[in-house]
Amino acid sequence: MRTMTTIKRSPSDLAAFGGAPAFQEPLHVGRPNIGNRARLLERIEDLLDRCWLSNNGPYVREFEQRICEITGAKHCVAMCNGTIALELAIRALELSGEVIIPSFTFVATAHALQWQQITPVFCDINPDSHTIDPNRVEELITPRTSGIIGVHLWGRACDVDALEEIAARRGLTLIFDAAHAFACSHNGTMIGNFGEAEVFSFHATKFLNAFEGGAVVTNNGELARKIRLMNNFGFSGYDNVIYIGTNGKMNEVSAAMGLTGLEDLDEFVAVNRRNHLQYRSELEGFSGLRLLSYDDWERSNYQYVVLEIDEAETHVGRDAVLEVLWAEKVLARRYFYPGCHRMEPYRSFFPHARLLLPETEGVSSRVLVLPTGTSVTESDIATVAGIIRTVVSNGDEVTTRLAERHLEPAFAE
Ligand SMILES: Cc1ncc(COP(=O)(O)O)c(C=O)c1O
Repeated sequence: MRTMTTIKRSPSDLAAFGGAPAFQEPLHVGRPNIGNRARLLERIEDLLDRCWLSNNGPYVREFEQRICEITGAKHCVAMCNGTIALELAIRALELSGEVIIPSFTFVATAHALQWQQITPVFCDINPDSHTIDPNRVEELITPRTSGIIGVHLWGRACDVDALEEIAARRGLTLIFDAAHAFACSHNGTMIGNFGEAEVFSFHATKFLNAFEGGAVVTNNGELARKIRLMNNFGFSGYDNVIYIGTNGKMNEVSAAMGLTGLEDLDEFVAVNRRNHLQYRSELEGFSGLRLLSYDDWERSNYQYVVLEIDEAETHVGRDAVLEVLWAEKVLARRYFYPGCHRMEPYRSFFPHARLLLPETEGVSSRVLVLPTGTSVTESDIATVAGIIRTVVSNGDEVTTRLAERHLEPAFAE
């Protein structure tokens, strides 16, 4: 039993101000979807019996095949994580100089470029969708620009069509970081079919996990062949290296986990969707709160419950709500905070970048991601939403009491 029965009706009930925490055990964001444990163990027994643990084993090949079936993309190269998959896609496509990306993304999108001496140029986002604003892309194009990486966030596609139009007209290579968007669609076409290539992450916190894992998917056979070579040191058969490569291979245990998760994909979507709708109905009507929505005509994994808190209306800031939730053992998360442009080495490279990124600055100061997934129950959500309602209904009081709390010697220590 994770929840205690304490209902947080007033600020004095909150754990931040002396009440008992609402949860005994922490409630996490991104708790892995485990899937059918018995099926996973069966597969692990099987691969141990086979003594085939890595190097393009049968489970990896089956996993790649299944990803192709689900996305409709022609080729999939599975890898050890999404970051290496991004690096290999960037390298195989011979991007160079500068590449335009949103700053509001996980830092791996920027690092995958900088790691290869390519400069990430940060573009602002659309505050409604949180994804790269195509209207701001063109002003960032210079003679050194070789490409654009769009990032599909929260299980929703970025503005693919506008980016495709700009890339085609300006002769730039377009790829997508689709780490958040496995099993999602854009205009009815599954993510995996846009740009030159799209990259998935199967990290433990992602909708589908392979413990750690990633993949490049593409409809370009030549590109897939090149990436497959790069992924395995450039080996083309025994003793024959025909290309410079690295080791990005997915192992068989990871593929076994990925395959097992795929069998429960519909269940993961259904649970996430149900959780999302419950949060929506519990938080509806509170001014200053905006829950990011999903288009019902698209497919989504509904993996993220993204709340935006507008302090001007609630009189209590996002960080204050976060502090209250953590005291209740609800480990909600700020996402992509404070933006890649405020992280090293980019902060030192572009000290004034924030002046060009007002929407990124605003969104990253407002966003709070709430716990969801198969390990979160209906009663957990009711409790979390109840805490948030109490905080925003008493915004001024909570803000004042938190400020007093920060002055207490015990807190200062
Ligand atoms: C948007 C985005 N891009 C890239 C990555 C990197 O993926 P991985 O952790 O599998 O390396 C992640 C997740 O961690 C991500 O959220």
